[in-house]
Amino acid sequence: MTPGRKKLIVGNWKMNLSVHEASLYLHKLSDKIPVRRDVEVVLAPTLLALQPLSLQVNRRQFKLAVQNFYWRDHGAYTGEVSAAQLHSIADYAIIGHSERRHTFHESEKDIRSKVQAAVRNRIKPILCIGETASERSYGETNDVLRDQLTSGLANLTSDDLETLVIAYEPVWAIGTGDNANPSDVHGAVKVIRNELKHLYGTKATEAVRVLYGGSVKSSSAADYLAVKGVDGLLVGGASLDSHAFTEIVTKAHESTTEAKT
Ligand code: PGA
Repeated sequence: MTPGRKKLIVGNWKMNLSVHEASLYLHKLSDKIPVRRDVEVVLAPTLLALQPLSLQVNRRQFKLAVQNFYWRDHGAYTGEVSAAQLHSIADYAIIGHSERRHTFHESEKDIRSKVQAAVRNRIKPILCIGETASERSYGETNDVLRDQLTSGLANLTSDDLETLVIAYEPVWAIGTGDNANPSDVHGAVKVIRNELKHLYGTKATEAVRVLYGGSVKSSSAADYLAVKGVDGLLVGGASLDSHAFTEIVTKAHESTTEAKT
């Protein structure tokens, strides 16, 4: 593990669990996952459950993430919730997730505006980037990663980078069970780190954590966590299984203890 970068495991519950179920599930996870100094665990419940869970959660044990928000702070935007309203409820925000890019047609401009809104409201952005199956087949992965990174981070200063998290999530691997090969993840993470250095310099990018996401299971977590430059995982499906998610957090803890020995 790179000194100073704490491992990060994010559970993205997507549009699952009612408010009541989410509360029970948080209770269950609280019993299973101990507070660990070397691993930060972030839960991203449905927006409706975020506020009640923010009152229930022990923030030393879990941080909370919002799955989506609108980038303006206030105004006549019926049905939307802003980062300004989420400040002090959400610690992190997932931005640019492939389901938002592809199902809801979010543009690069939307994504960039959301990153800026999160930073402006002191919510840590988790910017998701990744290539589609067809981009991959045309050998465009590295270009896609560079483009999404440059565009998503436009207008951020190097000071803003301190709280930034990048999640490498190949679109074809999300929710498909078709997970990426650790050596491909290694290549992608290298491209991401090099591009960050190119944009902001080595020093400013040291604090940025880079995650892998896409069909992570408890059985594959350790392989990704062992990849150089990977600081954690963004977990969808397996985060809804308390046993699997606990195992994944344990693997993250073990990866830091192994790195120290
Ligand atoms: P998955 O989702 O683990 O179910 O593939 C990952 C994600 O959406 O971030």
